[in-house]
Amino acid sequence: MKIADIQKLMNEMSLEEKVGQMVQIPANMLTDGGLITGPTDSIEMNEETVSLVGSILGKTGAADLRKIQNDFMEKHPHHIPLLLMHDVINGLETIFPIPLAQGCTFSPELVEAASRASAKEAAAAGVHVTFSPMLDLVRDARWGRVMESTGEDPWLNGELGRAMVRGYQGDNDLLKEGNIAGCVKHFAGYGAPEGGRDYDNVELSERTFREDYLPAYQAAVEEGCVMVMTSFNSLNRIPSSGNQWLMRKILREEMGFDGVLISDYSAVDEMINHGIAEDSRAAAKLAILAGVDIDMVSNAYVKYLAELVRQGEVEERLIDEAVFRILKLKNDLGLFENPYKDGSVEKEAALFCCEEHRSLARKFAAASFVLIKNDEILPLQKEATETIAFIGPFVDNKELYGSWSFPQKPDNTVTIMAGAKQKKAEMLYAPGCYIQDRGKCNRYGQKQEYDDAEEARILAEAIDLAKKADKLVLCLGEPRDYTGEGGSKASIKLPENQFQLLKTLQQINPNIVTVLFSGRPLEVQEITELSKAVLMVWMPGTEGGNAVADILFGDAVPEGRLSMSLPRSVGQLPIYYNKFRTGRPNGPGNAVGFINGYIDEYTTPLYPFGYGLTYTDFTYSEVTLSKKEMTKDDRILASVQVTNAGGCTATETVQLYMQDVKGSVIRPIRSLKGAKKITLAPEETGEVTFEITEEMLRFYDINMNFVSEPGLFNVFIGHDSDTQNMAEFLLV
Ligand code: NOJ
Repeated sequence: MKIADIQKLMNEMSLEEKVGQMVQIPANMLTDGGLITGPTDSIEMNEETVSLVGSILGKTGAADLRKIQNDFMEKHPHHIPLLLMHDVINGLETIFPIPLAQGCTFSPELVEAASRASAKEAAAAGVHVTFSPMLDLVRDARWGRVMESTGEDPWLNGELGRAMVRGYQGDNDLLKEGNIAGCVKHFAGYGAPEGGRDYDNVELSERTFREDYLPAYQAAVEEGCVMVMTSFNSLNRIPSSGNQWLMRKILREEMGFDGVLISDYSAVDEMINHGIAEDSRAAAKLAILAGVDIDMVSNAYVKYLAELVRQGEVEERLIDEAVFRILKLKNDLGLFENPYKDGSVEKEAALFCCEEHRSLARKFAAASFVLIKNDEILPLQKEATETIAFIGPFVDNKELYGSWSFPQKPDNTVTIMAGAKQKKAEMLYAPGCYIQDRGKCNRYGQKQEYDDAEEARILAEAIDLAKKADKLVLCLGEPRDYTGEGGSKASIKLPENQFQLLKTLQQINPNIVTVLFSGRPLEVQEITELSKAVLMVWMPGTEGGNAVADILFGDAVPEGRLSMSLPRSVGQLPIYYNKFRTGRPNGPGNAVGFINGYIDEYTTPLYPFGYGLTYTDFTYSEVTLSKKEMTKDDRILASVQVTNAGGCTATETVQLYMQDVKGSVIRPIRSLKGAKKITLAPEETGEVTFEITEEMLRFYDINMNFVSEPGLFNVFIGHDSDTQNMAEFLLV
């Protein structure tokens, strides 16, 4: 359809029809030919209002989508197709590692490839829009949704966000097969809730907001992402879904976003709870004035938007602008001509968990694991001469896919046990303990049933194996429902029963490799003390078992790097490497005397952002710069020679950090400005070069201008955010 035809169609639509386009309901409200049959949450609708909606939320599958779309379009006065939106976060049927783990790969290539595979599976299932990428910067591991972010660094999040958009939207021609629309979320600042409590308020200075939090969203918008979602939180006391400054000035005007803006789930009505709208009608008005095009599952737009226009409180022009954007998106996806897009049962069968996607998932997961300790125990031997016992509640666990995997199909998962058996048929196994802590709830408020006799039995079994085996692989961690939306925790320790298992077994057999599963950074100090090796594997997805076995037995070599700092204790949170300098800086230790920090804890993390070991050693030359002085339109090349000084081929992620030595406002200790991977054989040396331009040195100065300031800059190139390998140059 041509743009002029969209305009023509809109001229023929009634106000109620137009408002309908701005309403999203759960897919299960439409499963029986336009009738409300499923649970309706708190949304009050009737058959007529349901028959006019513009989009549905939740995967239906290709077969149901066809039926729903046919029935719906037949009844709709202008036969306008529905948009189907779904949370395809780290895969649809083939589940890739969770986004936090994706961040640990530092690999836009792998992230793009996995997003592409996810888009193809989703498109086959009839999905038109995915609610991804989630680009909320995260600094507090208590927040349950850190699992959905690629981590604590603005630059890395931006690069990986771009990669996700390319994966979903291809070349941004949404008509093409396998391309679906992306949706950047949660705009904005959702990753900084007070105390790490989900849905809590966010207070950020405009400088911090613009410099650290906005860039990743901005990057994805620049890459062409066609949708944005508002966040649940308030930003500096204004809930996002009613924040005109944020949506109209920052997002639309400054960032140049001209796509569809959707609210988060019931976020429009939640402005009543926030205390800035007296009722749903007032909430609808705030949201439309802020420029929210689609109200996701609340009563506001469907019940009050038409009335607000008729009573002269909202200009119809605002409705028209929103509806135009929504219809344009439908048109860009080609839905007027082909309302099912790529949805087809045959394509589902060909793509879901196909070999190609599985092998990508295996490689991607292995690249996301972070080896934080290895006292010459890994890799393990496949030969029968070494007896290995796999112990722990994650060994035979199929729930390795993180909290955003719908539908959950545990039978697709390769367990650690299945993966390990491929390498070593005669492995020993015992669960050792329950997965969930006694008396503690997951994010659904569920507690695990404990049977004391069974608990004693499985522990005794594990002790027995620990005596027999040469080495123990303990598969421990936080169950998947300890993170995700509504999954904030005040403690980030391993469940106590699992920790006790580790302690008990360590007394019997200290040759322990701990494989740690989680959706957040955990407190790992004691775990590392009790283990000879610790491999953080996050939530690795469908091929998790094969990927873990590949790394443990040396068929793949670890290369993952921490995308969030690992704290020593929860009291250090929020913790992040790019913090600001203080007047009383601390060394790495406790704050003894009147200096910044804690008297009972270090200020530094246990393992810094960017850290991760492999099975070889890399050495770095000094940093060499092509010049010592740079003008504003000049550039400097910064290089290092990296040598593989160990015994196997491996990949190093070389990281570039910069520090502005003196600014008109306080500058971070250092900021990541680039990362490059290099694969080297034993004794091989390679050169890695980064280009430094003036653009990379800009920040919000004392007058809030985004500029660079002449002066001295330090350039660090090394293994992680702690590297001291440095050179300096002058910006003149
Ligand atoms: C609420 C979540 O905050 C958001 O991330 C998600 O996309 C929507 N629900 C839709 O499921």
